[in-house]
Amino acid sequence: MVRIAVFVSGGGTNLQALIDAEKNGIIKSGKITLVISDNENAFALQRAKKAGISTKTVIRNQHPTQSSFENEILKILEDERIDMIILAGFMRILSEDFTGHYENRIINIHPSLIPSFAGKGYFGIHVHEAALKYGVKVTGATVHFVNEIPDGGRIIMQKAVEVKENDTPEVLQKRVMEEAEWIILPQAAEMIAGKLKQTEA
Ligand code: GRF
Repeated sequence: MVRIAVFVSGGGTNLQALIDAEKNGIIKSGKITLVISDNENAFALQRAKKAGISTKTVIRNQHPTQSSFENEILKILEDERIDMIILAGFMRILSEDFTGHYENRIINIHPSLIPSFAGKGYFGIHVHEAALKYGVKVTGATVHFVNEIPDGGRIIMQKAVEVKENDTPEVLQKRVMEEAEWIILPQAAEMIAGKLKQTEA
């Protein structure tokens, strides 16, 4: 069984979609065995605890450097024998040193159709503000492999969502989450975990 760690920073609605997908058998090749947050107040941690998943909090400003922060996380991942990482609303950029330990084994959900509205500065609500400002008629979400380039890894799955008249950034964000993120992240997680499971066998 592929052991999965989910990294979170905020509300955890994508984590909840993953937890529900495991319960509903959509995710069957892997098991979420750990949730790591860089924010001790993340509601995502409550969701994990409610689902009986162990949690760890690693605080960036308690470390003198980014590598010290990342090394603490890597030690936890090693101790927990983690095979695959899912970034679900995780707000930190991970260095090439870190991503190099998990080549093609870290996936991320981004709330646009990459390459649009992606890369440095495009995160959370800002992505939807930019999409509305540009006036796109279609946006969506992307699951991609994580490398050292923000939102730069190979695309795994995408789902389009219609932009409607008078959408606010908040209304559009909710539609992209409901109609895209919460659907493709579990599907992509199962796809990648299934491939890893075959290599494990
Ligand atoms: C989502 O919009 C996700 O696309 C982005 O950050 C937000 C996290 O939401 N990466 P949640 O913490 O999963 O609710």
